Amino acid sequence: MAGRKFLVTGALPYSNGRLHVGHIAGAYLPSDIYVRYLRAVGDDVRYICGSDDNGVAALKSAREEGISVEELTAKYNRSQQESFRGLGIRFDIYGGTHQPDFVEMHTKISQGFFLRIHEKGYFTKRATKQLYDAKVGQFLPDRFVKGTCPVCASTNAFGDQCEDCGRHMDALDLIDPLSTMSDSTPEVRETTHWFLRLDKLQGELAEWLRSKQDAEECGAHWRPIVLNQSLGRIDAEGLPERAMTRDMSWGVPVPLEDPDAAGKVLYVWFDAPIGYVSFTAVDCERRGEGWEAYKEYWMNPERKIVHFIGEDNIVFHAITFPAMLAATHDSGSTTGEAGEHQLPHNVVSNSFLNIKSAGKDEEKISKSRGTAIWIEDYLKTFDPDPLRYYLTAIAPEQQRTAFDVDDYVKRNNTELIAALGNFINRAMTFTHKYFDGKVPAPGARQEIDDAQLEACRSAADTTAELLERCHFKAALLEVMELARSGNVYFDTTAPFRTRKTDMDACGRAVNVCVQTVRTMTTIMAPFLPFAAQKCLAMLRLDEEALKWASATEELAADHALAPAEILFKKLDPDEVFSD
Ligand code: 2FM
Ligand code: ZN
Repeated sequence: MAGRKFLVTGALPYSNGRLHVGHIAGAYLPSDIYVRYLRAVGDDVRYICGSDDNGVAALKSAREEGISVEELTAKYNRSQQESFRGLGIRFDIYGGTHQPDFVEMHTKISQGFFLRIHEKGYFTKRATKQLYDAKVGQFLPDRFVKGTCPVCASTNAFGDQCEDCGRHMDALDLIDPLSTMSDSTPEVRETTHWFLRLDKLQGELAEWLRSKQDAEECGAHWRPIVLNQSLGRIDAEGLPERAMTRDMSWGVPVPLEDPDAAGKVLYVWFDAPIGYVSFTAVDCERRGEGWEAYKEYWMNPERKIVHFIGEDNIVFHAITFPAMLAATHDSGSTTGEAGEHQLPHNVVSNSFLNIKSAGKDEEKISKSRGTAIWIEDYLKTFDPDPLRYYLTAIAPEQQRTAFDVDDYVKRNNTELIAALGNFINRAMTFTHKYFDGKVPAPGARQEIDDAQLEACRSAADTTAELLERCHFKAALLEVMELARSGNVYFDTTAPFRTRKTDMDACGRAVNVCVQTVRTMTTIMAPFLPFAAQKCLAMLRLDEEALKWASATEELAADHALAPAEILFKKLDPDEVFSD
């Protein structure tokens, strides 16, 4: 497996807000686990992320906070970086589509994409009617228009969708429309835009997506949620042309001489995924490889590009962005030759994470309703690993799940501490107390010892197989299963009894326990990197010991261990998240 080439991306968070547990569970924790695992098996990986700074949402938030949009996006970009760092989510680069160090490269590469697609004939220029907010001097994106639904008469309808009956909406059909930017009534104005000919690419894209239904054929395990949603969209509605330009000044200017392009920028969903590419280019430049080395990551058929996203980003990553990439190809097909943009190897999406608080029903994470658990706040009081553990244990991989504060505390105390922490602590303190902190000799191993070492090998293999398929939750269960088997082994061989009667048997058991801790260290590292570092220190091993192939290499007799450290803190349910 070693030596494969990957490029992994985490969906670019909008830089108009802080990160909460739902963001982390959706795209960033799974991608970080995946990248740590790939590196442990010896693959060559670049891991890219950054903030999505353009679009009207940032302008609206800047207005609300009374600061410039540049200040706003810089502020949240910084806050996001701190949250990621605190959680041990380690990108190779964290860019931002409008951050000072990135905007030039991002503009150059995004405009290059636009021009190439234009040259290949995949844009249609067309005049359309749209709602305009004269008070703020701005055409309104669908989401920023509210009104009455013409179908069900609900007043909870937006320009893209009615929240009550779920109908897709054309903003112009809303009754009594209101701009949420200024609470004023918008007017209808005509404007010209460039539409991506998704209709021309529809057949190719559907075939490409269908090829992903067979893991053998495509070499990747695409999740049903991604294929169902994207193929379902094509089958139900087909792929109409989509406007890829907008009337505003905040964004990447449309790079055409055409007078109709004046005052227009690229649609934020056009430039955002290109952020993955432009941040890769800046990363290459910073490493001294030259910016054009990004082509090694984006135009090399041997490199596997894997996007990690949340449920609401599926269509953009499984249809729109692949369509944009295909539209740059000479052939216009989904297969890019060497030197042309490659389509993703996999698009890994989670569902949404809800919140469940004591005495309340499960509900959506919402800033306005105060149901969000912000990472910045969490990290002020708690350690990162328990959150990484919990969010993986309840990962919404197949369907929506809920962050339940009581359950978080319970699992910390009964699983992380009572199973994993306890086993490692027992093995370590026992070695210090009765073997002078040195690994005892293996002695003449018995069946039970061999069985435990076999459990280590099998846990390492099964965890790897599951991580290969992006089954993070199941992989974590496998790690925990090894901790549980370690506890059972400890209780059964009972070194705390044999130390009084049979020191050889005692040493034999303690040796196997330490070997189990050794294996656990490597296979827990993608999930619990901070605890794994402490284990490395206790075992007096260096980072090389995190290589997957070394997970079951035995520590030699007499290898000296460092003093035992506590891995996880007990949480008191009454103190957690109480105001
Ligand atoms: O949904 C979101 O948070 C978007 N900002 C994700 C963009 S992902 C990519 F296309 F950049
Ligand atoms: Zn309705």
